[in-house]
Amino acid sequence: MADLTTDFVGIKSPNPFWLASAPPTDKEYNVRRAFEAGWGGVVWKTLGEAGPPIVNVNGPRYGAIWGADRRLLGLNNIELITDRPLEVNLREIKAVKRDYPDRAMVVSLMVPCEEEAWKAILPLVEETGADGIELNCGCPHGMSERGMGAAVGQNPDLIEQITRWCKQTTRMPVIVKLTPNITDVRLPAQAAKRGGADAVSLINTVNSITSVDLDLFAPEPTIDGKGSHGGLCGPAVKPMALNMVAEIARSPETADLPISGIGGVTTWKDAAEFMALGAGNVQVCTAAMTYGFKVVQEMISGLSQYLDEKQIGLPDLVGRAIPNVSDWQHLNLNYVSKAVIDQDACIKCGRCYAACEDTSHQAIAMSEDRVFTVKDEECVACNLCVNVCPVEDCITMERMAPGQTDPRTGKVVQAEPADWTTHPNNPMAKVAAE
Ligand SMILES: Cc1cc2nc3c(=O)[nH]c(=O)nc-3n(C[C@H](O)[C@H](O)[C@H](O)COP(=O)(O)O)c2cc1C
Ligand code: SF4
Ligand code: SF4
Repeated sequence: MADLTTDFVGIKSPNPFWLASAPPTDKEYNVRRAFEAGWGGVVWKTLGEAGPPIVNVNGPRYGAIWGADRRLLGLNNIELITDRPLEVNLREIKAVKRDYPDRAMVVSLMVPCEEEAWKAILPLVEETGADGIELNCGCPHGMSERGMGAAVGQNPDLIEQITRWCKQTTRMPVIVKLTPNITDVRLPAQAAKRGGADAVSLINTVNSITSVDLDLFAPEPTIDGKGSHGGLCGPAVKPMALNMVAEIARSPETADLPISGIGGVTTWKDAAEFMALGAGNVQVCTAAMTYGFKVVQEMISGLSQYLDEKQIGLPDLVGRAIPNVSDWQHLNLNYVSKAVIDQDACIKCGRCYAACEDTSHQAIAMSEDRVFTVKDEECVACNLCVNVCPVEDCITMERMAPGQTDPRTGKVVQAEPADWTTHPNNPMAKVAAE
């Protein structure tokens, strides 16, 4: 079985699966059960400064989007940071860390953007024996209106500032958690690095309204006839999260900045994808909230088996896909493929035909007895038919070998790659050549 032990910015854990700061990590009872189930670490639900506890709504705080089989695809929440007293959380963190010294215990923090507030809370956290802190610069609702959370995460100068305050005050590693509710995630990541961050983690939740009650005419979840935007997470946000992780990992300014990947991780494969794009570990919230703590067992066994099959170690996986993340203009325009339908697998539903005929390139023929075939002379290889076909692997994209003539363009497929930067239709390429 592959070795899954992880050292993330000096914080050791038996596997790279941490629970993200959220309800699963809100109290001792949960975190003990999570560790018993096998989680490698937790980021404790965000603590605020001492004083009167945070007040949450008393109506529904979660909304959702589902697939056709009612599988949860996205969870929306309007919850705030922990609403339990600071001293209770600190006491529990200390007790759990004492009993599980081999697990990662990171504490998420969000206090006002004032140096004194950070200097006040950090020694209290340090005293618990926690392994590190995560700065919540991402909470998109409730706290951002008070100048915290995403209000900080959307302002690189503030990120740099609070990171610096923390680094000057504590010996603990500082992970800066970023909001996706920003145009270019590389800027806050660079700011965190300038402030001295040991790592960034991303993503926090995405600003969203998941649905509208068409009788009440109000966003859901609805509280006394009104709703507000919330933060979306779960499988629906994974594509955005993967892209943002990759953007930071392949940017020269932040390529050496460790990343904790978050957003829709539900299976070992999701985790492996985040790691291949540069994440040193992953954090999970929605999958645990949907399926319970034992989901980690599939993640551990699946990742371990994958690494064994590939005959690579976990560190070899981290960032392995980054050299292959490219910008569009560098993609090989001499790579030509065509859709091919496996007639034995086809159930003759006609979805590929409807999609290609109505919205793509009229490249699928339908015979009277519903045999569907691809017209190579029309197929542009857009992949739409593959994506709409209900039978996995029924339609595949097959590459044309160099030397063959593409019946659509009449051109011979070239073996040498060529991209847009040198294409004759590219005015910039002409300028560069002159
Ligand atoms: C109900 C709920 C509460 C959350 N509270 C916090 C929080 O207090 N601090 C924080 O940094 N992130 C919070 N998050 C965001 C998660 O830590 C995580 O970034 C996000 O859910 C994406 O991961 P996922 O797709 O695995 O759920 C919360 C998420 C949910 C669903
Ligand atoms: S790949 Fe695109 S163009 Fe080709 S058959 Fe499929 S849908 Fe049509
Ligand atoms: S969508 Fe797939 S299963 Fe349906 S007709 Fe096309 S190839 Fe066959």
